Amino acid sequence: MRIERLSTGVRGFDPLVAGGIPRGFLVAVVGEPGTGKSVFCIHFARRGLLEGDKVIYVTTEESRESIMRQASMFGFDFERAVEEGRMIIIDALLRDKRDEWNMTEVTVDELIGKVIQAKKALGYGRTRLIIDSMSAFWLDKPAMARKYSYMVKRILSKWDMTILATSQYAITTSYGFGFGIEHVADGIIRFRKLLRNWELKRYVIVEKMRQTPHSLRVHEVEIRDGVGMLVKGPVEATRDEVTLPSKVVESVKKGVERKAIEEELMEGLLSEGM
Ligand SMILES: Nc1ncnc2c1ncn2[C@@H]1O[C@H](COP(=O)(O)OP(=O)(O)OP(=O)(O)O)[C@@H](O)[C@H]1O
Ligand SMILES: [Mg+2]
Repeated sequence: MRIERLSTGVRGFDPLVAGGIPRGFLVAVVGEPGTGKSVFCIHFARRGLLEGDKVIYVTTEESRESIMRQASMFGFDFERAVEEGRMIIIDALLRDKRDEWNMTEVTVDELIGKVIQAKKALGYGRTRLIIDSMSAFWLDKPAMARKYSYMVKRILSKWDMTILATSQYAITTSYGFGFGIEHVADGIIRFRKLLRNWELKRYVIVEKMRQTPHSLRVHEVEIRDGVGMLVKGPVEATRDEVTLPSKVVESVKKGVERKAIEEELMEGLLSEGM
């Protein structure tokens, strides 16, 4: 059986998942704030538009305008796609009741209802759904995360959608706000950030992708103005990285020892001179 895979539109990412995300999958895109989850989703949406897919983008932490502006920074015209009826951005942040594509309540029931309404409005055809973020739906009840994720998957899987759902991880612990989506999801794409030589670096690893011989390596990620996200090569376990901690410890130790010897010598010289 051939698996139909959807390109993510992120340069360098598709080879990590054997060509793309299998059609109909629910994939969790997880990571700490500012790691690139939304940028990844924006690329996925844009790629869908290029391939003639219908796109539904649910945004809970940024307004519709914010998503459009971010997309335009990479040269993607979401405004036109919306005007042409190829894309619907459901705004769950501003909650303006006069706008048909705003959510008045951030509940899973309303999410499912709005997404189905949007799918009907867009019409038949392969559809990409982005839920950015899913965490917003269980912020005050993390214990419900798994049940809610399951509901979303079960109901929406009938509607021929390939779903990316972001989930935030706490900065301090790197743990999700309520596990659930990770278990229910067919795939997990995890973004990370680290300080290397006083510079912020971003990374991605595919932690899970069912029915896919996916990469198991950590890859470096870059977000470039005017271009967007690029996945660079895998992170090499260089000698530096492996040996750095013990090297540092050693040099610190040596420094301390040298200082002690110097102090002894100085004391000796001083006492000799006296
Ligand atoms: N035009 C741009 N040029 C370069 N980098 C950019 C540009 N626009 C955004 N970025 C980078 O992308 C980051 C935001 O990434 P993104 O919104 O995808 O994060 P996120 O993982 O969704 O975070 P959150 O959990 O807070 O929503 C910014 O902090 C910035 O570093
Ligand atoms: Mg985001």
